[in-house]
Amino acid sequence: MIYIVAAVAGIAGLLFGFDEGVIAGALTTLRQQFDISTFSEGLMTAAVPFGALFGALVAGPAAEQHGRRATLLFAAVLFTLGALLAGMISAIWMLTACRLLLGFAVGIAAMVAPLYISESAPAAMRGMLVSIYQLAITLGILGAYIVNYALDDAWRPMFMLGAVPAIALFVGMFFLRDTPRWLLTQGRSEQAANALAKLRGSAVSAEHVQHELETMAGANTPSQKPATWSDLIAPGVRPAFVVAIGLFLLQQFSGINAVIYYAPTVFQEAGFDSGSTQVLATMGVGLVNVLMTLAGMALIDRIGRRKLLYLGFAGTAVGLGMIAIGAITGAQSLDVLAVLGLLIYIGSFAASIGPLPWVMMSEVFPSHVRSLAMSATTISNWGFNFLVVFSFPELVASLGLGGVFSIYTIVCLVGLYFTWQFVPETSGVPLEKIEAHLASGQPFSQLQPALPKPVTHTDAPVISPEQMEQLMLASIALSPYAEHLQPMAKTIALVASQNHQVRCAAQNVVQRCGGQVPNALTKQHLGPEKHTLFTYLEHTYFASPAFLKTVGEWPVGGPRD
Ligand code: BGC
Repeated sequence: MIYIVAAVAGIAGLLFGFDEGVIAGALTTLRQQFDISTFSEGLMTAAVPFGALFGALVAGPAAEQHGRRATLLFAAVLFTLGALLAGMISAIWMLTACRLLLGFAVGIAAMVAPLYISESAPAAMRGMLVSIYQLAITLGILGAYIVNYALDDAWRPMFMLGAVPAIALFVGMFFLRDTPRWLLTQGRSEQAANALAKLRGSAVSAEHVQHELETMAGANTPSQKPATWSDLIAPGVRPAFVVAIGLFLLQQFSGINAVIYYAPTVFQEAGFDSGSTQVLATMGVGLVNVLMTLAGMALIDRIGRRKLLYLGFAGTAVGLGMIAIGAITGAQSLDVLAVLGLLIYIGSFAASIGPLPWVMMSEVFPSHVRSLAMSATTISNWGFNFLVVFSFPELVASLGLGGVFSIYTIVCLVGLYFTWQFVPETSGVPLEKIEAHLASGQPFSQLQPALPKPVTHTDAPVISPEQMEQLMLASIALSPYAEHLQPMAKTIALVASQNHQVRCAAQNVVQRCGGQVPNALTKQHLGPEKHTLFTYLEHTYFASPAFLKTVGEWPVGGPRD
């Protein structure tokens, strides 16, 4: 069920990407049909991020008051209206107004959809699902480029096609429920329980669902006064705020949306003559963006945030530098250099500085300011995005493409210094540890990743009897012997805690999961320890009354008789 939820809410990411990317293909024809000054071109293109800025401002309060589902339904209506109206305009100012409306919807969706996903997801899958959202954005951009290519000059249906995913979002959300967490804040505990049971499905026992619900209800009791803006610059929060805003500033001023929104224009400047080759090359950009986002998803938890950022900023600086050289010299022979540079740039961006600011934004803030700080950083993202997209045509007119890309190159080099100086390694570090490190006042960048510590004989037990029981009950539910072992699960858990090998395996699992047993434990959580745990359960099964009864070995007087 969580995958359906993520897929439906992911349509919002798709729309985000589509509305960003669709302008790229339409611009060339629009310029021929309307008399557009560089100022109004910048304004019309940048209307999406500008509208999004306001969308992000209202999204938080709207999602609190009316719920995540209702707010997303509202955004879907705006997306549909914006797309249909954009296809019917007769003047550029009308298109600017439609894009402002679409941007408003994007701003709402870009904040509420990830919130909807993360509130529905089991804790241990949250990070992966945030990256899936970024993947949806890149798929939306690619989709827009494909539509651009397929429809060539027909810009009206190009815009109108955006209504299709918008309607899909509406229909999908219509059939989904609101998140259990939001329902709890409204005092609708019965609906919350039903929603959670539906989300977790039959794979998770009713006991677990009840436990998760109780944890949510506990966390929902407002224990502190609501955070204020000034809390964001308090000493214990400021370093996190600097990291989150800084990463978005660098992400946007690396010029990504100048490329995404104006890709064919960039290719034209780089020497591609026909309109359709420009759009085809643009599709290449979209495809590399998607594929390298997947590569980034595979790397993010393996090599860690800092290393991936170094790679990303170094790669983007090299790529942008190549484009700048190609554009400044204007030599035909250097066009290949520029195109290669663009691919290196997009690839490095997609694998690193595309997803990382979003992921780190959800990790670095202490819990009491998290949602406010996340809105502030999202708003900053749209602000920076607007500035870059709006200024691009004017800057190209005054400095030339080479000059503009040289500036973006310098930004990426600054990114290397910023990472070294300010960014902590949060990979595998529990959120509470990040919070404690911030509170300690030590430099944020000195946070150490939590390497899983091998458990040895002399190690003090790191797992409580309750955790041991919880883990064993969950493992039994996952094992192939669940049906037979469930009735005596508690006893098995107790006996298992006396077994050294099983206890060590359990400790490893719990350590890897950040010191706690995940609410919805999956086989992935068990990792290499799955073998030890399941073998133990297999032995238990072969010694169980249920098994002995089937082979006729249950002692006289036992249940067989
Ligand atoms: C950025 C967007 C950008 C997209 C490109 C996102 O991480 O925030 O502004 O258009 O990546 O893939």
